[in-house]
Amino acid sequence: MKSILHAAVVIFLALVQATFADSAKVVTCRQCHRRESGQFEESGMTNALVLAGQAEIPDSGLTFRQGPFFYNIERRGNQRWYAVRDGKNTISEPIDWAFGLGVAGQTYVFRHNSAWYEGRVSYYREINGLDLTVGARLEVPGSLEEAVGRRLSVRASIECFDCHATGALRDGALHTESLTPGVQCQRCHADADTHLAGFQQSNKPKTLPRRLSQLTTEELSDFCGQCHRTWSQIASDGPQNINNVRFQPYRLTNSKCYDSIDRRIRCTACHNPHSDVVHSVGFYDSRCLACHSGHTGNEEGAKLCKVASQKCVSCHMPKIRISDAHNAFTDHWIRVVKPGDLYPI
Ligand code: HEC
Ligand code: HEC
Ligand code: HEC
Ligand code: HEC
Ligand code: HEC
Ligand code: HEC
Ligand code: HEC
Repeated sequence: MKSILHAAVVIFLALVQATFADSAKVVTCRQCHRRESGQFEESGMTNALVLAGQAEIPDSGLTFRQGPFFYNIERRGNQRWYAVRDGKNTISEPIDWAFGLGVAGQTYVFRHNSAWYEGRVSYYREINGLDLTVGARLEVPGSLEEAVGRRLSVRASIECFDCHATGALRDGALHTESLTPGVQCQRCHADADTHLAGFQQSNKPKTLPRRLSQLTTEELSDFCGQCHRTWSQIASDGPQNINNVRFQPYRLTNSKCYDSIDRRIRCTACHNPHSDVVHSVGFYDSRCLACHSGHTGNEEGAKLCKVASQKCVSCHMPKIRISDAHNAFTDHWIRVVKPGDLYPI
């Protein structure tokens, strides 16, 4: 019923749109697909990248010291600047991009010596201040030049922007001048561009975009895994330690609950990619009980819990603290956690 109504609304909007088409108005996905667009602006993925001048961090007072190196990030006019100095010299660059909205942290990417650099210090919401960028702790810089940050290879910079933005990659090359920041509609619905162009040109698109809801559970896991990393990527390249808690496709696939074709355990059974992640634990109970209720009958022994009948994820999907990231991540390896158990990898 809901989907028929939805289709009717979409078609109605399409007709309204058609009436205006002659005026060559710019048409966007959001005008027609209201249901997917309504809460999209607030979702973390939409804001995965912003211009540094627009980042919601303090304008001044962001400093950090490591050995002889002193860091400072501050606003000057409508730009933000990244500076590092030792006793004698200073290297200072305007920051182009801020990666990550800062649910946990935000990392800065800027041009230096004709290359893209990832700043050595990042902002962390939890401490409302700067600390080393995740991964930077492993290296101790020997010079001011090294203390700036990590020089990104052409390939690494392409990958950064391709995961955090839309339209960054064209003909195999990086186009930061024309990208749209954040994971927008067309980043996931790649074939929707022709669909949109169809409306813009003739009001009757020849092709409909592929329905991502028709992907199997495993295909969807790999789809989200282009950015969240796939099971096989982590299984072959690691990390084989507690840091792999951030890679949900890997963790979830290792759960006893996981079944590559059962839709009740797909990413979108628990997450709507068109809105922000739900933080209330009770929200997920119905997802677990879809299998663990004892009523469905047809699965191979999805058992009942003897301990509790609600707030399942609070015990079975524990939050794992990664101190370098100043954040706790949700372990998607659904399991019984007993005191003293080692973190399964
Ligand atoms: C002028 C209105 C309009 C615009 C603009 C538009 N769409 Fe659509 N879209 C439709 C209609 C109508 C359908 C067919 C809906 C149906 O059959 O339920 C559709 C179908 C789809 C589908 C397949 C869904 C299905 O149920 O088969 C996807 C995915 C989609 N659109 C995404 C997008 C994206 C992403 C954009 C922007 C790049 C976009 N659309 C722009 C009207 C529009
Ligand atoms: C193009 C890359 C990309 C794809 C594809 C992608 N994600 Fe993400 N996702 C991100 C990035 C980047 C972030 C981090 C956003 C931030 O915090 O700035 C993120 C964050 C999230 C979050 C946390 C949001 C929040 O508000 O904290 C959820 C949940 C999520 N993604 C689920 C999914 C699911 C489910 C899929 C598959 C349907 C998916 N993602 C596909 C890049 C992607
Ligand atoms: C992070 C990836 C991602 C982003 C960004 C995204 N979508 Fe989707 N979208 C999906 C997935 C995955 C599904 C299928 C959900 C499911 O499993 O039921 C979907 C479903 C849809 C559908 C229903 C048709 C279908 O594929 O089954 C429409 C229409 C749609 N999206 C439009 C949009 C629009 C419009 C935007 C931007 C406002 C958008 N999407 C942004 C991943 C995304
Ligand atoms: C393969 C895709 C991919 C690449 C490449 C990538 N990211 Fe991300 N990034 C993600 C996803 C997915 C998330 C959300 C999940 C998480 O926090 O691990 C994320 C989260 C983040 C966050 C927020 C972390 C937090 O603490 O919440 C920052 C900051 C970030 N990325 C910066 C970068 C920078 C800078 C680069 C390039 C040097 C980069 N990312 C490259 C996919 C990617
Ligand atoms: C697609 C069906 C399905 C879904 C959805 C599902 N599970 Fe499971 N789960 C299973 C099956 C099958 C097993 C293996 C048999 C058993 O122990 O019940 C299992 C095992 C478990 C176990 C025992 C694991 C162990 O290490 O012994 C726990 C705990 C569990 N699930 C909790 C949950 C919670 C909490 C949720 C929701 C966040 C959930 N499950 C969602 C099917 C599912
Ligand atoms: C207060 C923490 C807590 C909550 C909340 C909780 N569980 Fe459990 N659950 C446990 C513990 C502890 C065990 C292990 C019991 C044992 O081995 O004696 C367990 C065992 C299980 C098992 C394995 C059963 C078996 O016989 O092997 C499943 C499946 C499970 N829980 C599912 C769920 C589901 C679904 C929910 C929500 C409806 C839930 N749990 C809520 C703590 C919890
Ligand atoms: C059975 C339910 C369930 C499934 C299936 C599931 N998630 Fe989650 N996910 C959760 C819960 C619960 C949270 C924590 C929400 C909160 O407390 O903020 C979460 C949080 C996240 C976050 C935010 C970062 C974090 O660590 O809290 C990302 C990103 C994410 N999930 C991605 C995925 C991806 C990708 C898939 C598919 C491979 C997936 N999830 C499948 C339940 C699920």
